[in-house]
Amino acid sequence: MTTARDLTLEEKASLLSGKDFWTTKNIDRAGVPSIMMPDGPHGLRKQTGSSDNLGINDSIPATCFPPAVGLGSAFDPELAAKVGIALGVESAIEDVAVLLGPGVNIKRSPLCGRNFEYFSEDPHHAGEVATGMVRGMQSRGVGASLKHFAANNQETDRMRVSADVDPRPLREIYFRAFERVVKNAQPWTVMCSYNKVNGTYASEHPWLLTDVLRDEWGFDGLVVSDWGAVNDRVKGVAAGLDLEMPSSDGVTDAQIVAAVRGGDLDEALVDRAAQRVLDLVEKSGHREKPDGSLNVDAHHALAREAAARSVVLLRNEGSLLPLAEGQDIALIGEFARTPRYQGGGSSHITPTRVDTALDSFTQAVGDRVSFAPGFTFDGEPSASLRAEAVELARSNDVAVVFLGLPDAAESEGFDRTTIDLPADQIELLDEVVEANPRTVVVLSNGGVVSLPFADTVPAIVEGWLLGQAGGSAIVDILTGASDPSGRLSETIPHRLEDTPSYGNFPGELGHVRYGEGVHVGYRWYDKRGLEVAFPFGHGLTYTDFDYGEPTVQVNARGGLDVSVDVTNVGPRDGREVVQVYVGRDESAVDRSPRELKAFSSVEIASGQTRRVTLTVDRSDLAYWDIRVDRFVVEEGTYRVEVGASSRDIRGEVSVSIDGDDPDIELTREASLGEVLAHPKAGPVARQWLAGFMGDPDAEDAGQKTESQTGAAAGAEASPGGEQTDIGMMMASFPVGRLVSFGVPQEKVDELIRLGQS
Ligand code: BGC
Repeated sequence: MTTARDLTLEEKASLLSGKDFWTTKNIDRAGVPSIMMPDGPHGLRKQTGSSDNLGINDSIPATCFPPAVGLGSAFDPELAAKVGIALGVESAIEDVAVLLGPGVNIKRSPLCGRNFEYFSEDPHHAGEVATGMVRGMQSRGVGASLKHFAANNQETDRMRVSADVDPRPLREIYFRAFERVVKNAQPWTVMCSYNKVNGTYASEHPWLLTDVLRDEWGFDGLVVSDWGAVNDRVKGVAAGLDLEMPSSDGVTDAQIVAAVRGGDLDEALVDRAAQRVLDLVEKSGHREKPDGSLNVDAHHALAREAAARSVVLLRNEGSLLPLAEGQDIALIGEFARTPRYQGGGSSHITPTRVDTALDSFTQAVGDRVSFAPGFTFDGEPSASLRAEAVELARSNDVAVVFLGLPDAAESEGFDRTTIDLPADQIELLDEVVEANPRTVVVLSNGGVVSLPFADTVPAIVEGWLLGQAGGSAIVDILTGASDPSGRLSETIPHRLEDTPSYGNFPGELGHVRYGEGVHVGYRWYDKRGLEVAFPFGHGLTYTDFDYGEPTVQVNARGGLDVSVDVTNVGPRDGREVVQVYVGRDESAVDRSPRELKAFSSVEIASGQTRRVTLTVDRSDLAYWDIRVDRFVVEEGTYRVEVGASSRDIRGEVSVSIDGDDPDIELTREASLGEVLAHPKAGPVARQWLAGFMGDPDAEDAGQKTESQTGAAAGAEASPGGEQTDIGMMMASFPVGRLVSFGVPQEKVDELIRLGQS
């Protein structure tokens, strides 16, 4: 096998940027072949003619699976793995080494134009689903490219903006999905994002690309730039950006050579990056080419299954769905005939075929369905189209209205400015409902839309963007051929003004401040007690599930095993997504009321009970402690909630967990509260405090309150109203300054010494 040592400096530098838009450079002399790395993520976009990263030019036909917005809603890493395997097979047939995906950026604002390519507003969920997908792809010898690392949560100014994020949200929210996938699935490559993270371009960020990604998380693959993300190539090599894509026409290769020759770049860093490219090339050489050509039908069937699993039934008053047999159906809305099934930009692929709801309905119920487009995609109201649709609704038993966002409304490259549906569609809906209250709305949208009709239309189906089989999958759900089981992986708010990043999105003057901190998505709405249209985790089925009392046990690894009996008490077989949220009311840090820590999508036959056991990793209970720059599990009681959504908690149990020793050394700056909480300094401080407050039992005070922290400890040590206040007040005094208040210097020195041992 060729190693970096076998190559000249020029050859090594040549490996560090693309040969063209989609391939790496070959070095024939040394037997190094070129490899191909096209998009991704929900289908293969292999271009054989003109290349681009905006979805402009054609690519060869490939199966268009549901984009992440859909697949994420299935809440099922196993399903994601099945799709990943299919993506791997299609890529392997086409000699693709790495498929560019999945994307695990957090949906920080519903306005982000690329939310359809991301799984969730929750990092645990995104990390779990993406882990399944990466494992699936890589099991077929095709590498994944986990993207876009990091804090790429908007499209506005995406190639320059600085995402200004505090350490806790960065670690607890924006890094966590990446960390999970890196640790659990070892993606072959990670793609750095375009933007800056706290002022430094991701593509030249040593802390991000080396300290965190490799040294902390153990990533041993290759870091590739997003297409055109390189700002300063030499800085990038030093930071840990191995491969620049696409080609720089040799310009940056020459810069690397010149920097080495000029003494500005250590050649060992070039070797390091070149070796990683060689390792990737070697790894991809083991890929087995599948026999025969693509089984279009089998993959279309999987796309249909995945799409049906992605649909979220938001509302179903009076069990309007599934549609009873023998009804005459008015099918309304251009989306039923011209489906929107994927988003715009680099992920836009050429499908092998496309199912429309109109055709699929006709196949399912024959001439019981009649169609009227109702509106056009240009948003211009059409009186004649509207009148025709309303009349159709009136003259049929039920109206099924397809509404949504047209292509022009959302895409990679720009953000939306509103979460409203086009006004002409809402007007049409109002008239349809008046003509026929038995109305079902089916939505086609990549980003969340507000639903002013959430309380008036009896049935609402969130159909997201579902891939090429979305049309048939939706009809499967509407007719009951498939059962809905998808859940919201993002909150549907009432108003844009309620959303966490409102006022801090998309930033200004080159900076976007993540001012909502850790309270992203449902964390925010729960923290503020805000009403939402539909909460995170919500989704109805055609049956009902009862939950038993949950139990929780600390397992051998210090995590939690949570078990609950779930019974299908309804008339049909179905699938329930059991969710575990963990919260902690008393904490040293500001926490959201609940955070998703485990979930499982389980099939349960009507009348059957299943015991569902979910595991919460100990590391997922930790918060990022900025004092010691690492994750710390706090000692104490945690609330474990088991439910069918973040706002449909069916059972609650508490558990006591041993904490990590944060190993904080006390200094003169430490507050008296921190000193009191310290295992060694605390008892001595309490004793002194009790004496200071005139407690005759000062001798015992040291032992009495050992397990308590901070101000509370001070308060307990000194019973009596006035004294308690003094204890509370003093908790925030820096211990070094207590000398001014009569504490002998030796006592202070002793406390600090104890606090450092
Ligand atoms: C996108 C990436 C994509 C790349 C190649 C970029 O514009 O941000 O997600 O993989 O183009 O098409």
